[in-house]
Amino acid sequence: MTIQVDPVRRNLKFGLPAGKALSWNPGGLHISQFYNTLSIFFPAGERFFIQSVRNYRQEITDAHLKEQVSAFIGQEGFHTREHEEYNEALVAAGMPIEAMDAVVVRLLELVKKAPRSVQLAATVALEHLTAVLGDMLLRNTELMEGVDPHYSAIWRWHAIEETEHKAVCFDAFEQVVGKGIQAYGLRVGAFLLANALFWSLFVPFYTLMVAKGGGLLNLKGWWKVANLAVGRPGVLRRALPDWMDFFRPGFHPWMHDNREFLDQAEALMDEVAAFDVNRLQAA
Ligand SMILES: [Fe+2]
Ligand SMILES: [Fe+2]
Repeated sequence: MTIQVDPVRRNLKFGLPAGKALSWNPGGLHISQFYNTLSIFFPAGERFFIQSVRNYRQEITDAHLKEQVSAFIGQEGFHTREHEEYNEALVAAGMPIEAMDAVVVRLLELVKKAPRSVQLAATVALEHLTAVLGDMLLRNTELMEGVDPHYSAIWRWHAIEETEHKAVCFDAFEQVVGKGIQAYGLRVGAFLLANALFWSLFVPFYTLMVAKGGGLLNLKGWWKVANLAVGRPGVLRRALPDWMDFFRPGFHPWMHDNREFLDQAEALMDEVAAFDVNRLQAA
């Protein structure tokens, strides 16, 4: 039996502390900027994901899947909103976020000229990437050790919800595009292209973020991020087998059963409710 998980919309505010945008991670500038660079992609990227699945709204007829799609849209909407605020903190810290966001927006405008099946395949592909990265964050709890609690919360919230809805676009794709050899070719082709484009933007964006933060010549910082990515803990290196599973003809996101991380959601909600931004709002 396939695993079914229903995404839950969690309308959370994180009150990210001003002035910590480049130093929220005790690993230093290079580590903070690694996550911060991911954040640059989210607002435009997730708006695109929402649109690509909305394009098929009429054809998604299964009542349960329809409900999952609405919840997915709700979650990604909140992610967009919170990462816009996150990115504003980066702008305030002097980072040229608008210019990088504009590059992502222009690229996605081009993708939107492709058939809607290609757009949905691109979303399925990138949702696998976010699911794999989210799993890494939740699995390696030491990554958030000693991190500013607001930044820790936003990253864990996002990772939990990316896990929760990781199969929604995939299931929608199988329903509206199919499961045959053509559908397989489309999703794998989109996966290769989406990853090539994403990483070819991520690397220069990240380098620019480090340079603007004043860390270009800090070799110790580069050593730290190299360890984070491919050394120890080596999150990208260790994520590679899961990432590769996307190429299996019978792949399904829940073949990686990591539902155990979803149990953290409730405690996280309590944690976030105690932040000033929410207590003041509730008062
Ligand atoms: Fe998201
Ligand atoms: Fe997502």
